[in-house]
Amino acid sequence: MFELAFLGALLFSTTVRLTFSHETGYKHSAVLDANGKYRIKWKFDDKTVTFELEVETTGYVGFGLSSNGAMALSDIVIGGVSNGRPYLQDYFADPTRKVHRDPQQSYRLEYGRENTTHTVLAFSRDHSTCDPNDKEISASTVRVIWAYHEQDVGPSGPMYHGVNRGRKSLRLLNPGSSDASTPPSAAFFDLQNVHVLVPSKDTTYWCQIFRIPEVQTKHHIIRIEPLIQKGHENLVHHILLYQCDSSLNKSDLDMGHECFHPNMPDSFLTCETVVFAWAIGGEGFSYPSHVGLSIGTSIDPVYVLMEVHYDNPALQQGLLDSSGLRLFYTPKLRQYDAGVIETGVWVSLYHMLPPGMQDYVTEGHCTRECLQESLEHERPGGVRVFAVLLHAHLAGRSIRTRHFRDQEELKPLAYDNEFDFNFQEFIHLSEERPLLPSDNLITECKYNTKDRVNMTWGGLSTRDEMCLSYLLYYPRINLARCESLPEINGQLKFIGVKEIQLPVTTWPFVIKSPKRYSNLSFTEAMDKFRWSKKRGKAFNDVVLQLPMNVRCSKWDRDEWSIQGMIVSPPEVPRTSRPTPTPCSSRSKSSSSSSSSSSSSSSSSSSSSSPPSSSAITALTALLSSICLLSSSAQLWPTL
Ligand SMILES: *[C@@H]1O[C@H](CO)[C@@H](O)[C@H](O)[C@H]1NC(C)=O
Ligand SMILES: *[C@@H]1O[C@H](CO)[C@@H](O)[C@H](O)[C@H]1NC(C)=O
Ligand SMILES: *[C@@H]1O[C@H](CO)[C@@H](O)[C@H](O)[C@H]1NC(C)=O
Ligand SMILES: *[C@@H]1O[C@H](CO)[C@@H](O)[C@H](O)[C@H]1NC(C)=O
Repeated sequence: MFELAFLGALLFSTTVRLTFSHETGYKHSAVLDANGKYRIKWKFDDKTVTFELEVETTGYVGFGLSSNGAMALSDIVIGGVSNGRPYLQDYFADPTRKVHRDPQQSYRLEYGRENTTHTVLAFSRDHSTCDPNDKEISASTVRVIWAYHEQDVGPSGPMYHGVNRGRKSLRLLNPGSSDASTPPSAAFFDLQNVHVLVPSKDTTYWCQIFRIPEVQTKHHIIRIEPLIQKGHENLVHHILLYQCDSSLNKSDLDMGHECFHPNMPDSFLTCETVVFAWAIGGEGFSYPSHVGLSIGTSIDPVYVLMEVHYDNPALQQGLLDSSGLRLFYTPKLRQYDAGVIETGVWVSLYHMLPPGMQDYVTEGHCTRECLQESLEHERPGGVRVFAVLLHAHLAGRSIRTRHFRDQEELKPLAYDNEFDFNFQEFIHLSEERPLLPSDNLITECKYNTKDRVNMTWGGLSTRDEMCLSYLLYYPRINLARCESLPEINGQLKFIGVKEIQLPVTTWPFVIKSPKRYSNLSFTEAMDKFRWSKKRGKAFNDVVLQLPMNVRCSKWDRDEWSIQGMIVSPPEVPRTSRPTPTPCSSRSKSSSSSSSSSSSSSSSSSSSSSPPSSSAITALTALLSSICLLSSSAQLWPTL
């Protein structure tokens, strides 16, 4: 009798479990492979992330978190359903890519089931486990690695998975919009490519200019969703939408062309301000319920350029794509108009990175002078930032937007310590952040130019570089760009330039003396200089201290009076205090780990304090060895 009751309870609880397993509380999802056989869903709160894998196999499934997409030093979980029973184990890969069972099992099995074709497995984990073999789950981009096999894990461990493996960048903790539902009444229009023949090459950027539909009165765009052609979920990697100058050549409308291509129409170059960004893994973007993107007034976008990044690593031929974006708009106006401010380094040849550098740091300043002038004129009470897009090109490794108020450093507005050029999306801030006239911002980018033999220049193409953060904010003010650029003289002086040819008649301008550079353009002279790691580092130190040109522009090529001024970079500590993690704060006094607005003893962490805890030391060692190994990007070769 007792046994039967127990069995009944067990059955009942199984039923409950199964019901739970169908729940739709997962706010995020992604397809990890090209054939739609490996899908994940996830959700998170302040402390934990819960994943559900759905994979077309009846054997084991593997899932991992990696800093660089390589298997070495990655954090791995492997599980499946065997004889009707789900199983799960936490593993890690050592520097030689051997897989070991993790002595600290941090992944918790939630539920699992399989039918004749698919395995579904759900598990959860804390963001921070204080286990050096686990990868901390943070707001940074993470490379998710995956694998599966037709056999379950046997007594001798998981069998080699062969070709059933891959990786994908995701930002697991992007909060998303709180108000993601589309009002059923909202009208929409689509910006859509029509049968673009996707070239059979790894990476293609496809650009097309659209006129957005004419509306007689002001409307608000309130949500933008990706319209990805079915089956192309992995082909379409990201989509950016730029606002174009309304003086563009109308004959370039509706004509698609490869972006950054020498034959690209000039009109494309007038489309510079990002108004929207979607990247793989994102489900669309909703403006906060009190904010909308205005259309229909004289200062609103009329022409937009849609840039679609196609990712075709298998070099498939003859793919025709008709993906794009759907924009929902409404005449029911919200309280505020959204705006975008581009901050960071003014895109220019004066932004330059020497070759062969493991770590080169660039800082773009949105100066207090610019914010003071523009905000005091337009909105003395300040504006509120609600999302940020961090943007660099192929050499970018990490980006953060530092925020200062009256010289006091606040929490970074946004950061990504593991930036992936191929994965860029607006990061919703968990709380709106005021931007005041007494503030200044520093967008800091770290680059790796180790594999390059020539200088890298600031510019539009993906081989050129940028260091930008786009701030999405309200209410809209007439401030398009708040940027800086280190003065060229100091940079030229570093390589020994004495005199340039005047008057300047060519771009890039030409050097007069010394003789070794004479008649070379300054870019050629920079390339001619014999760079070494040591010289690159010394150049970096010089550039970060140089006076800078301020860019403080309005819309339509208009400027605030501060634009063109030369100012010195503010004196700030080069590194801000690391954000305390549960592991690090455990060994510290609670006061030192509290909010950053407290005392100004910000130097204390870098001075006399002993290495905080062994966990941190181990983590640092782990992270630095990952960097060393970052070139060995082979995936899962020896499971
Ligand atoms: C097996 O499970 C998968 C995933 O849950 C589902 O899509 C599929 O329809 C199922 N197949 C059968 C035969 O029930
Ligand atoms: C506009 O573009 C067309 C075709 O690209 C070109 O022939 C024409 O000269 C352009 N007009 C202007 C004003 O640039
Ligand atoms: C580097 O610059 C030199 C001189 O400008 C040029 O000839 C060479 O092709 C460049 N190399 C690469 C890899 O771009
Ligand atoms: C530089 O160019 C000028 C004018 O073209 C020429 O007279 C001069 O000889 C050149 N100098 C060198 C060092 O090549």
